[in-house]
Amino acid sequence: MPDGLVIFRCVCFDRTFAELKEFTRAEPLSIEQITARYGCGGSCKLCRPYIQRMLQTGETEFREIIEVATD
Ligand code: FES
Repeated sequence: MPDGLVIFRCVCFDRTFAELKEFTRAEPLSIEQITARYGCGGSCKLCRPYIQRMLQTGETEFREIIEVATD
């Protein structure tokens, strides 16, 4: 893992954004569907804006704090 702050997973459900991205490769999923199936984004919700960004850009590692959901 690179040095410094890297946000790369949903801590509550122990799923990396790379894993979630892989799931959306097989079948396009909305963030609501990801939450319903895997839980991610449905507990503390801190990962939610990162999952949204992942769905928009394909990024799976983040070096910045994203506080606000963008949908
Ligand atoms: S970190 Fe994903 S729901 Fe808490």
